[in-house]
Amino acid sequence: MTDLHVAIIMDGNGRWATARGRPRNWGHRQGAESVRSVVGAAPDLGIRTLTLYAFSSDNWKRPQSEVSVLMKLFRRYLRTEIDELRDNGVRVKVIGRRDRLASGLVTAIERAEEQTAGGERLELRLAVDYSSRDLMLEAIRIAAAASDIERKDLVTLIGHAMNGDGEAPDVDLLIRTGGERRLSDFLLWECAYAELYFTPTMWPEFHGSELAAAMDDFRARDRRFGRVAVAS
Ligand code: FPP
Repeated sequence: MTDLHVAIIMDGNGRWATARGRPRNWGHRQGAESVRSVVGAAPDLGIRTLTLYAFSSDNWKRPQSEVSVLMKLFRRYLRTEIDELRDNGVRVKVIGRRDRLASGLVTAIERAEEQTAGGERLELRLAVDYSSRDLMLEAIRIAAAASDIERKDLVTLIGHAMNGDGEAPDVDLLIRTGGERRLSDFLLWECAYAELYFTPTMWPEFHGSELAAAMDDFRARDRRFGRVAVAS
């Protein structure tokens, strides 16, 4: 199966660093290397859309120093990787709120989206200041103004709430690293029929080979979408 949508909750940077006697922010920097590795590996694994949970709306509650390092990392990633991403056919899209981000980061996001708009091998969606519940609420607010709303309309509205994208693509496989088993307000609508894959591997140690193993596990599953199994 190709054209898959894989979403990843990149968890465990802080614990991984702390376990090595290093500051949490060092773990985030190493985590950025894992992002590079996974993005490089994704297209050849049949992944067409990759959504990475970079910063949840609840992450604003972290110490200011950690938030600031994360924001700098996102900005640097968007600036330094852009040529390579474009050359590799990766289209970048950032989902989530932008009104609380620093103007320098918003500019980097807009440039990255513009400069990679022609990419057709992989859509890389970075979720920054993202809350699935907030987006659904936003979609419902828009819907409340319309009459006769149907499910397909709500899908479009949720997509629209995500920066005017027009669609909320279903997730095929949701991966969470770092040993926790929860969704943390990520793509709640889009994960209705997602297969879930939880691994104890901390994000800084999750690379292309770990993504390949997750895809093997996914491909061995029987996805029935509410139907009964077909007798063989
Ligand atoms: C959760 O792990 C991770 C985050 C909130 C940040 C994710 C950010 C990166 C992977 C950095 C680079 C990203 C990009 C897009 C360049 P945690 O550190 O909170 O884990 P913990 O549970 O061990 O504390």
